[in-house]
Amino acid sequence: MDLLQAMKERHSVRSYDEKSIEAGTVEKLRSFIKECNKESGLHMQLVLDEPHAFEGFMAHYGKFSGVRNYIALISRKGNDLEEKLCLVIAIGYGQTQGVSHNSKPREKVMNAEAAPQDWFLRGIDATLLAPTAMNQQKFTFTCKGNLVSAKAGLGFYSKTDLGIVKYHFELGAGRENFRWV
Ligand SMILES: Cc1cc2nc3c(=O)[nH]c(=O)nc-3n(C[C@H](O)[C@H](O)[C@H](O)COP(=O)(O)O)c2cc1C
Repeated sequence: MDLLQAMKERHSVRSYDEKSIEAGTVEKLRSFIKECNKESGLHMQLVLDEPHAFEGFMAHYGKFSGVRNYIALISRKGNDLEEKLCLVIAIGYGQTQGVSHNSKPREKVMNAEAAPQDWFLRGIDATLLAPTAMNQQKFTFTCKGNLVSAKAGLGFYSKTDLGIVKYHFELGAGRENFRWV
């Protein structure tokens, strides 16, 4: 499956089978996470067969069940060595594959000339497939010629969301068609 297809088929899953992740898949995950850490300066960690992180009140509130594997996203704060846990992504074999989220109409998240280019609209459609905290979709993309800017709205984690939606935009629009400003 290519990344565009994966983006279309991806949904959040909160209920998992309590089955360990297969060795071959673990290997691929480890090597991809290593690459991501090198490129981003983040310190992501793969945690396997550890059921306690998702046993707390917040996890029950979020209706998680059977989570035993996750990726912890950790950044280094400033120049000191204190590590900050930013996000936790539950992974594993889902009991279901999740469902599509409701999306805002394109017009709510874009500013563009009267007849926007096709690549810009493909990018916008991709942003609306992205996961955002509480499905808030608080972002705006503006296009002038081939220059695109993206702005986060006010909301929890809206800056984290912005990074995720910008990546989706690049995949949908094609990096060769525009420049970020
Ligand atoms: C930054 C961020 C934080 C999130 N936090 C939570 C959370 O605390 N609990 C939860 O159940 N889902 C969380 N989600 C998942 C969103 O609720 C989910 O992505 C959104 O409802 C859209 O659904 P989808 O991912 O199935 O497309 C988070 C997503 C993002 C991007």
